[in-house]
Amino acid sequence: RRCPAVRCSLAGDVVTAGRILKELKSGCATPLPVLRRVADAMADDMRAGLASDHSGSELKMILSYVDVLPTGNEKGLFYALDLGGTNFRVLRVQLGGKDNRVIDTEFEQVSIPRELMFGTSEELFDFIASGLARFVESESGIFHLPPERKREIGFTFSFPVNQTSIDSGILMKWTKGFAVSGTAGKDVVACLNEAMERQGLDMRVSALVNDTVGTLAGARYWDDDVMVAVILGTGTNACYIEQTDAIPKLQSLASGSGRTIINTEWGAFSDGLPLTEFDYDMDNESINPGEQIFEKTISGMYLGEIVRRVLLKMSKFSALFGNSVPEKLSTPFVLRTPDLCAMHQDDSRDLYEVGMRLGGIVGTTSSTLEARKVALEVIDTIVQRGGRLAGAGIVGILQKLEQDSRGLVFGKRTVVAMDGGLYENYPQYRNYLKGAVTELLGPELSKNVIIEHTKDGSGIGAALLAAVNSKYID
Ligand code: GLC
Repeated sequence: RRCPAVRCSLAGDVVTAGRILKELKSGCATPLPVLRRVADAMADDMRAGLASDHSGSELKMILSYVDVLPTGNEKGLFYALDLGGTNFRVLRVQLGGKDNRVIDTEFEQVSIPRELMFGTSEELFDFIASGLARFVESESGIFHLPPERKREIGFTFSFPVNQTSIDSGILMKWTKGFAVSGTAGKDVVACLNEAMERQGLDMRVSALVNDTVGTLAGARYWDDDVMVAVILGTGTNACYIEQTDAIPKLQSLASGSGRTIINTEWGAFSDGLPLTEFDYDMDNESINPGEQIFEKTISGMYLGEIVRRVLLKMSKFSALFGNSVPEKLSTPFVLRTPDLCAMHQDDSRDLYEVGMRLGGIVGTTSSTLEARKVALEVIDTIVQRGGRLAGAGIVGILQKLEQDSRGLVFGKRTVVAMDGGLYENYPQYRNYLKGAVTELLGPELSKNVIIEHTKDGSGIGAALLAAVNSKYID
């Protein structure tokens, strides 16, 4: 990696928390030149990934096989299934065509039991298929399926999948803490079909999509200016609409529309990122060392863990929380991003909420105001770096599109559709992201770039893509 680790030089407990904080801040700093370097590297890696699957680029630039986007004319009952983060979701939607659009929609969400993330492929897919079967049984009369038709599903599977067609694809590897055995290298639609068969459920998967692709399709249904979709949740990724003649690795120009969606899998990016010893240590001890570095720096699954590592070091070397290290502070992933967010909102003089959370989560018996302030600064440093780097990534994509289209991106309204709990629920993260985009583009150009939150765009989007690729053409 280009960027060397920033190591704190420690000499026992003479090193104060302030010194560690200072080194952390300089290691995580994202001034404009760093943001530029990241945006440029993102654009370069995108080009390399589009040129060939063997270019060595960290960005896989996966062809989604989605080259026809929903038009609004889609009609009928469609299902969507979403697996990819901490929750598993099922949804049904009755589409009413141009004038009525979405007539009715219902969804259910269950959290994925942790043990399933480490179990076998059959166990995971059986869990999904049985959840789907239960949901289908609850379908009421307001939803309507013409006779002789199978129910069709858009399957959002939010992991790196090498698509082989719109309705099939091979799992390349798991990300976001999943380590299910026996799925990598297999067609995930076949895995789902087999599990549905075991459940006696007769449905047809019409589209297999990444969550970013579902989000783009869902957002584009309402707004023709959507060009890019980004997920910032447990994990992170982006996709965008590309011209087929800008994709050298796409040899057969099968696409009639001249455009297709590319899933960048930008979580794997790492060029030029400002990383510290805490990032390197977390990565080394992760279940996928050396992989998903951008994701590990900016996404919801990891921000709390980075902060925990910094606080642990501070409490070991500078007695941040008194003479002993709070017991739970040594437990990986005990500090979660929603906890950071709650502490970050605390603007009281005594930082009461920060103290409460630290007490409850990491078990500090009491914390001084000074210690709470330091903890808050650590949080702000890590969240600021994450948000700003996410912003730089977005600008990298827009920049690439702008260069290829000579003015067609920044010269008009361009929408980036956003989804994911981190973006949705963390105001400071959102502000840092937007701030970086404005800094990079300047006030004029950034006026045309609209970052829009599209809640549950990915579920509806997958159902829309199932409709677009339906076997039953009206
Ligand atoms: C991970 C997955 C990617 C997904 C993203 C957001 O990076 O590899 O496919 O889109 O998380 O859920």
